[in-house]
Amino acid sequence: IADVQDIIDHEMLSHDEIVNRIHEVAKQIDKDYAGKTPIVICVLKGAVATYYELTQAMTIPMKMDFMSLSSYGSGFESTGKITVRQDLSYDVAGEDVLIVEDIVDSGNTLHWLVGELNRRGAKSVEIFSLLEKPARHTAKVELKYKGFVIPDEFVLGFGLDYDEEYRNLDSIAVLKPEVYKGANS
Ligand code: PRP
Ligand code: MN
Ligand code: MG
Repeated sequence: IADVQDIIDHEMLSHDEIVNRIHEVAKQIDKDYAGKTPIVICVLKGAVATYYELTQAMTIPMKMDFMSLSSYGSGFESTGKITVRQDLSYDVAGEDVLIVEDIVDSGNTLHWLVGELNRRGAKSVEIFSLLEKPARHTAKVELKYKGFVIPDEFVLGFGLDYDEEYRNLDSIAVLKPEVYKGANS
């Protein structure tokens, strides 16, 4: 596997820009959920870094839970079919649920998850997604909280993978187009 600098075209968002924005969102969430104890769901694996920064910055009572979902496998295009790799530990019936995601691309993952949490009887379901890529939306998703709206480029880092690697990059970078075009998937 290539060194990260060999596959990156340029940095899109620095670590500080990302973290500062997440902290602003955390303040808003603290206000909106005052008096409540939401279950804050991390959509693994991509949301892991966003979730860590958000929850560390939140000050209201909350419960943490984790759900591992896959719509992409190792390919570049959403397959449209969501696979549950690992389910939640809590029953969300009657609970206020806040979903934390790294990116809305086609919208398939969140569209499915919001429907599923409503089927399970959640009292309320809201979403924070760090990134939104409007050019690719096919499924409708209401984002109450968002970090950045980005153009239609393949991004990696801060939890987002390219072929399951580079999630540990601490900023968000654009993949070189030749790497993207060279891949056959
Ligand atoms: C990625 C990303 C979002 C989803 C967004 O997850 O983390 O969860 O795709 O795409 P969509 O809006 O088209 O559904 P992926 O399925 O790659 O799993 P991962 O989080 O483990 O990387
Ligand atoms: Mn994901
Ligand atoms: Mg992925």
